[in-house]
Amino acid sequence: MIRAIHHFPHGFLWGTATSSHQVEGNNTNNDWWVWEQEADRVAQGHQSGEACDWWGGRWREDFDRAMEGGQNAHRLSIEWSRVEPNPAIWDDSALDHYRQMIKGALDRGLIPMVTLHHFTIPQWVSDRGGWYDPQIVHYFERYTRKVVATLHDLVGLWVTINEPNVYYVAGYLEGVWPPGKKDLRLIPQVIRHLVMAHAAAYHAIHEIRPDSLVGLAHNYRGFHPANPRNPLDRWIANFKAHAFNDVFPRAVTDGRIRFPTWRGRVPQAAGTQDFFGLNYYTVETSAFKLRQLTDRWDYTDFPEGADLSPSGFIANEPEGMWEALRWAHEYKLPIYVTENGIEDAEDQIRPRYLAQHLREVWRAANFNWKVCGYFHWSLVDNFEWERGWTQRFGLWGLDIRTQERTKRSSAEMYEEICKSNGLSSEIVAMYAPEVLHSMFPPRGSPELVASYA
Ligand code: FCB
Repeated sequence: MIRAIHHFPHGFLWGTATSSHQVEGNNTNNDWWVWEQEADRVAQGHQSGEACDWWGGRWREDFDRAMEGGQNAHRLSIEWSRVEPNPAIWDDSALDHYRQMIKGALDRGLIPMVTLHHFTIPQWVSDRGGWYDPQIVHYFERYTRKVVATLHDLVGLWVTINEPNVYYVAGYLEGVWPPGKKDLRLIPQVIRHLVMAHAAAYHAIHEIRPDSLVGLAHNYRGFHPANPRNPLDRWIANFKAHAFNDVFPRAVTDGRIRFPTWRGRVPQAAGTQDFFGLNYYTVETSAFKLRQLTDRWDYTDFPEGADLSPSGFIANEPEGMWEALRWAHEYKLPIYVTENGIEDAEDQIRPRYLAQHLREVWRAANFNWKVCGYFHWSLVDNFEWERGWTQRFGLWGLDIRTQERTKRSSAEMYEEICKSNGLSSEIVAMYAPEVLHSMFPPRGSPELVASYA
């Protein structure tokens, strides 16, 4: 047995990430709930329903699991539609519920990272035009002020908006999420409002609690040209990388929106990130196809021979994690990996996915890039948007009928990693033996020699 360990920096945050609509259950007052009632919106007609019953109190047992699993942080989100069920009418009992949850996290030694917007909006905001309506910037700031005024003594780490890029693509380009638009003409406004709302929230949070750390969770997707020698493939890969990955982080750095086909300025957004939140799942290959431009954006292909998740949604491409971290590092901010994971009910791929991706996080930390934490998506299986319950991302499995949780072997693996603040060859040998040799080559092996070359 090779004895080696990848140590993570002192004080590294180890956690999992969740979002309100996906785990709470009975979020009847938001746009997603309404969407789920319509035919053909969600795979197999699935609905969020009771979800993981966190609103019913099961967050307690799941936070126990996180604590017992050696985690020291948790990323969760606040459900706007619960806090503000009608315009400027606040539900204090909902706010109190979140206080109890966050206190519960702290009591268990879990540092809370709190997201203010994770894809859902109250139905009344949606009725007024959602992210297309300029008023949303004001609404979002008002909601942010209320939440932060209530929780600022407990929370110092905030994510304003989760994956604004995924949001505009799914909601306004592909139309697979509410509001179900497929209209390029709406997109400049939507992007602008997302940037403005983030900026307003950033300034509001700092006003209330100046030492807060505030960021966004950016989804990075690697776009590799299918044929690197084909200039059109290179062009489309670049175009997508720019429109999808770069627009938001650049806008909140210098206040300029540079979409491939238009430009905008939001000066108040310049310098509005204290850390860089990075969500990474996969890379795809892009080939130039006319169909793609005129018809659909979501055309994806994965690198040949890729190690795919059961539904073919994610390719296990750990190099992409390195690429994502390098990209994030360019913004010269502390980085938190705010999401990373794979759907895998049988837990066949997850252990190696976890080991291989964490190795890249460790590499980045050892280049002295300021990587401060990792939040695995997710703690327990939860409602996966238009894919419903067909995809299982949890370290723990969930039986939605009985609410029973089952511990997957990845949960045990993650526990050993968190508790030792490191990834050892023994852990890999135990849980993902198939990648032991490539990750920890034995003495004298060609892989080891090559890694020194
Ligand atoms: C991310 C979302 C998260 C979850 C994972 C699988 O894009 O932020 O809510 O659905 O994908």
